[in-house]
Amino acid sequence: MKFFLDTANIQEIKEAVSWGIISGVTTNPTLVAKEDGGFEEMMQAICRDVDGPVSVEAVSMGAEEMIREARMLAGIAPNVVVKIPMNIEGLKAVSWLERNEEIRCNVTLVFSVNQALLAARAGASYISPFVGRIDDIGWDGIGLIREMVTVFERQKLASQVIAASIRHPLHVQESAAAGSHIATLPFTVLKQMASHPLTDQGIERFLADWAKVKDKEK
Ligand code: E4P
Repeated sequence: MKFFLDTANIQEIKEAVSWGIISGVTTNPTLVAKEDGGFEEMMQAICRDVDGPVSVEAVSMGAEEMIREARMLAGIAPNVVVKIPMNIEGLKAVSWLERNEEIRCNVTLVFSVNQALLAARAGASYISPFVGRIDDIGWDGIGLIREMVTVFERQKLASQVIAASIRHPLHVQESAAAGSHIATLPFTVLKQMASHPLTDQGIERFLADWAKVKDKEK
């Protein structure tokens, strides 16, 4: 499973990229609204720093407007993937963009296997089920990832599943166990994944014992 970073914060992106484990970035209007600066410059900077797909969300509602906006977004940088919401207008836009204009799309706000099946048939390169938001309403977010991956394998569908709306490290390992191709993570979750109290204690103890070794040599 690949890791994408779910943020529009350039410092977080630079830091996570330096760890050597980031394969792409996803943004959305809420994440962009948290940052200062102009939208296009922000996206250009992110696309420069990331060697991989950067999802940038379209906010138009009708298919024709979505297609026009997608052309503009795809013009920002060659690694832009246009995020399109999962609805009927979105399906029309995705099937046109993927088939006729080679603009890659990430169908977002997916909450059921049937929605995912439609997005896959429309030719979406990526499909984003929102794990955390499904858990929030008392359903099973990871269960959806598991079912989607099983159905996509059985039906030989090529779209990549991005486990999105990830809230904690357990979501990440369960998404991997469920077979998700990608998980997109907030930077806080990425940091939590890297740390364990026993690792910190272990380092502390090794350093203390190493100091004893050096003392004996004096
Ligand atoms: C996915 O691409 C979205 O940007 C994101 O994961 C949404 O997560 P949230 O439910 O925490 O807003």
